Amino acid sequence: MGCESTAGLSRRGARLAGKPPFAEYIVEHFARSGAADYVALCIAENNLLTDLVLPRLAAEGDPPARVLGYDAMVGAQEFREQLARFMAQRFLGRRFAAEQIAVLAGAGTVLEDLFYALADPGDAVLVPTPSYAGFWADLETRNELNIVPVHRGCEDGFRLTTERLDAALAGSTQPVRALLFTNPDNPLGKVATAAEITAVLDWAEARGIHVVCDEIYALSVFGATPFTSVASLRPRLGDRVHVVWAFSKDFGASGLRCGLVVSENEALIRTVDGLAYWGAVSGHTQWLLGRMIADDAWVDRFCAELRRRLGSTYRLVSEALADAGIPHVPAEAGIFVVCDLREHMSERTWDAEHALWKGILDEANVNLTPGAACRTGEPGFLRLCYAAEPLERALDGVARVGRLLRG
Ligand SMILES: Cc1ncc(COP(=O)(O)O)c(C=O)c1O
Repeated sequence: MGCESTAGLSRRGARLAGKPPFAEYIVEHFARSGAADYVALCIAENNLLTDLVLPRLAAEGDPPARVLGYDAMVGAQEFREQLARFMAQRFLGRRFAAEQIAVLAGAGTVLEDLFYALADPGDAVLVPTPSYAGFWADLETRNELNIVPVHRGCEDGFRLTTERLDAALAGSTQPVRALLFTNPDNPLGKVATAAEITAVLDWAEARGIHVVCDEIYALSVFGATPFTSVASLRPRLGDRVHVVWAFSKDFGASGLRCGLVVSENEALIRTVDGLAYWGAVSGHTQWLLGRMIADDAWVDRFCAELRRRLGSTYRLVSEALADAGIPHVPAEAGIFVVCDLREHMSERTWDAEHALWKGILDEANVNLTPGAACRTGEPGFLRLCYAAEPLERALDGVARVGRLLRG
């Protein structure tokens, strides 16, 4: 007899059907999107350069007929060569072979397939927090891995220390297979120095743990610390260090679903190749993006403009936050800031943080990302994404939150 509550689904299907597919802040976002008064400061999207990207894509006109046919599922050879050249010049600091690159439908798909290859169900992966909220879905849903948070605290500016890594490793009840390290950081907007990255690599190497470096914000750097890719620090990445990047953030093209992994681990790339059929990128999209990144003069202008617009938007948002009396962790990259709203909670609990987030949403109609979604170690640190909405609207959202909090 089938069980009615699972509607005839498999054990796995029923488990997923019983869970909300999205966090509450995202459900609220979709419910309110389009409403005149609603300000979405919760979504890590960069719409600041749409006026540059859209015309560049449109300028290509008709694609060649070959984009209609099957091609390598990890990306057409020509596209992977264009990517190898572009990434070497713009952020990796070193040229990889096209065969060391696998292209898939967005960084999320890349992470899922990569971790399928690196860890078995039940294995653990270390993730420094506060973190990008989506890693939990990427790793735990189908791969059935367990994320072990490495809590960073505000007392030292949320630093990732080897002591914190050691404590998380020692506390894990499952074998830890990898560390997922995001640089530039989401949500902190920090850029790790070469010394900090080296300390993380040395730590992981000594313990035989893979390091997956999510460099999805590599070009979105506007502060004083220059971006250093893990790939530029050593002559070889070896079998245990892998880089992830996507067009989603730096080019504000999350809807095109195009991400990639760079790895020197041949077996890993072969495994990802074996999975790629279910997450391949459309030939048309590869062709369009390949033409765009091969246009050096355009990419030069784009990168300079990206840095300029992100920097000026961040400065205006931080001034608006100061006017609103909201402290935030200073950022130098990315499209978000972490706001410290601890003093506006009735008590230092997750329930109080939820009540604060909901109050801001219901009364100011402004949606922030709750710290709980970023698995922050302490309640009260909410993420504010400032590049998804037009600037005036984002600034109005900050002012409204300030007025509400001041009472
Ligand atoms: C650090 C990080 N990694 C991965 C992703 C997922 O990117 P994609 O849309 O390419 O799947 C995001 C999206 O916010 C992110 O911030």
